[in-house]
Amino acid sequence: MSCTPLDTEFRRLSPKFYTDEIVYQAELANIFGGRSWNYLCLMCEVPDAGAYIETYIGETPVVVVRDKSGDINAFVNRCTHRGSKVCIANKGKAKQFICPYHEWAFDLSGKLKGVPYRHGIDGKGGMPSDFNISDHNLTPVKVAVRNGVVFGSLAPDMDDLATYLGPKICSYFDRVCDGRPLKVIGKMRHIIKANWKLQIENVKDPIHAAILHSFFKVFGIWRSDQKTDVVVSETGSSSVLVSTASFDKLKPAKAESALSLADPRMIQHIREFEGGTGAVMTIWPNLIFLQQLNCLVMRHVRPDGASRCIQTWTFFGFQDEDISLTEQRLLQANLLGPAGFVTVDDNEVLELIQEDAVALGDTPVVLEAGEGMGDTDYMVSESAIRAFYRFYKSALGEQPHG
Ligand SMILES: [Fe+2]
Repeated sequence: MSCTPLDTEFRRLSPKFYTDEIVYQAELANIFGGRSWNYLCLMCEVPDAGAYIETYIGETPVVVVRDKSGDINAFVNRCTHRGSKVCIANKGKAKQFICPYHEWAFDLSGKLKGVPYRHGIDGKGGMPSDFNISDHNLTPVKVAVRNGVVFGSLAPDMDDLATYLGPKICSYFDRVCDGRPLKVIGKMRHIIKANWKLQIENVKDPIHAAILHSFFKVFGIWRSDQKTDVVVSETGSSSVLVSTASFDKLKPAKAESALSLADPRMIQHIREFEGGTGAVMTIWPNLIFLQQLNCLVMRHVRPDGASRCIQTWTFFGFQDEDISLTEQRLLQANLLGPAGFVTVDDNEVLELIQEDAVALGDTPVVLEAGEGMGDTDYMVSESAIRAFYRFYKSALGEQPHG
């Protein structure tokens, strides 16, 4: 299948990339199972020895846990005996992980420590004499942490995280996560019946934000008469949309301007960061790191089959911040999430695309807006989406690891 059936500039895309099972399996093996750093959690979610949280790399279940020495370990949440999950809860505290099926016991670094009936009963049965317990540790996940944010990889030969992100993304990453200790202030999880890439495309697309999202338009958060920049990483894999809100309501001639907010704090902005009032960042392959006014969130887009994804939103602030700022972040979380004033529009449109993607056959999606595959200082640009698919095509061709 060609990624560019009509040209070599990634201005056309077959909708089969949203539906095809062979493509999807290649993504799981070569992108999520390949040389990618995948968002796992915030470091503050595993604050002390034994604290763990479950997450996923692609469809692979992963446990992240802090051990007694303070290190953060991660491993595939699959017993090396018969394949059950060893950790059942989403999060908690453990001294060890014991598989529910036959009680193989693993320590906090994933090492196998105990096998019931290893030597049989009364000298009969059990594991063979050459059974080596150290050959059956949980599959390790490589871990990297940047300013309190934990990433993991199934590939053993990763570039360091800063090289992987590149200078531009590092700069925007550190603009918010600058090393101050973070705190989680809320979580949301929901399913969208759309391919994971549709969600990633959506937040690389500044155009729709000023058209689809009535809330943004009416209250002057993201509109065509405001400044928008598209920043694309050096490899093209990741990007940031930077918007600068005017907070001007639509001119009186517009009927929508009759709308008003019962609680104006919904769009009040306490200036915290340099640059725009919003920065929507995507980090390859499937993290959306979002700053919208005072709302901060890590939005993990987990593929779950070719035609749906599971989104986990981790809203956060800083441990040392004033409670009034935390309350402001929580209030503005109502813009986002499954029923948010803004995000609800995207959820519906993405499902409209997915519903008809099979029927479209090879009728291509059009990605013509703007120039090239790099930065633009204007809004009507699909350069970040084209750059994403150029990188995607090369990543899909890699050999799987592990
Ligand atoms: Fe949107």
